[in-house]
Amino acid sequence: MARMAVIGTGGWGKNHLRVLYEIGALVAFCDVDQARVEEYEKKYGVKGYNSPDALLNSERLDGVDICTPTSTHYAVAEKTISKGVNTFVEKPLTASSSEGEKLVALAAKHKVKLTSGYIERFNPAVTELKNVLKGGSIGEPLLLEFHRENKWSGRIQDVGIVLDTSVHDIDTARWVFESEPKMVFARTGQVLSNHEDFATIILGFDKQKTAFITSNWVTPKRMRQLVTVCTGGVATVDFVAQSIVIDDAEGSRSPRHEVQEPLKKELQSFIECIDKDRQPLVTGQDAVNTTKIAEAALVSSQSGSPIYLDI
Ligand SMILES: NC(=O)c1ccc[n+]([C@@H]2O[C@H](COP(=O)([O-])OP(=O)(O)OC[C@H]3O[C@@H](n4cnc5c(N)ncnc54)[C@H](O)[C@@H]3O)[C@@H](O)[C@H]2O)c1
Repeated sequence: MARMAVIGTGGWGKNHLRVLYEIGALVAFCDVDQARVEEYEKKYGVKGYNSPDALLNSERLDGVDICTPTSTHYAVAEKTISKGVNTFVEKPLTASSSEGEKLVALAAKHKVKLTSGYIERFNPAVTELKNVLKGGSIGEPLLLEFHRENKWSGRIQDVGIVLDTSVHDIDTARWVFESEPKMVFARTGQVLSNHEDFATIILGFDKQKTAFITSNWVTPKRMRQLVTVCTGGVATVDFVAQSIVIDDAEGSRSPRHEVQEPLKKELQSFIECIDKDRQPLVTGQDAVNTTKIAEAALVSSQSGSPIYLDI
């Protein structure tokens, strides 16, 4: 099995550590915070390092998971890819799409796999939604309405809600419609944090298909939901409960599926891609395109105008 290391073991990276340990793929990790290095060396019995350079110079690795703050993703991934190590970077791939394009080109040059943590693609309820749409029983998707809302924890300081949170729904909209939006219009505002912390984004796809994305770090209720309006019915996904309800002319039903940890599915999938030499489900270019759309949303919210894209 691929030999994996985690870089950045904070609020989210500690879950990557646990999952890779459970899978049996964790061989080392690194964090600039010495207290974390000591804690996780003790907990998982693998070597911890204080810097990505020390980790890369000392360990033979097949893959790394970069879970450092977004503003550091480019610099860290540039090192791991240049060393020829397959690289998973938490979302968003980079703080800007131009940095992301450079990583995609570097990964092609060094022939390494590059992916980013668009975890909802591994949520069993989203997999079920894709199956239902493929089966055609409720027709073609026309409108997507996303809500992703929860009070700001104070932890994310380097980017606002659009690059941190709305990107999950931008990626899922691209995944459900299997195409890129041609138009982005957004309004954002700031009441609590250092950046924009509430946002509504409209993505216009071909044939008038539309995604509405509402994200907020203001209200205390944790809500993560997608309503997919189709030509023959409506599918409602709750990302947290991993539930899906289908409403059509015949009534309401909830297809059964196994509840699974999306992070485990996501990391297992990346390891399989390394072991079997396959393309990741989320390509580096997917992640760059999602960042481009998020950037367009920020420009739109500043200018008050729609932004037309050609991705
Ligand atoms: N996919 C998801 O659902 C999801 C959920 C939460 C966070 N994230 C992403 O994960 C990333 C980390 O978020 P977080 O909430 O865990 O942040 P955090 O601030 O809690 O943790 C970051 C960790 O990285 C360490 N670090 C910083 N710079 C480093 C470097 N150069 N080398 C090694 N270690 C370094 C810090 O010491 C800290 O332990 C962000 O990009 C965030 O967007 C993704």
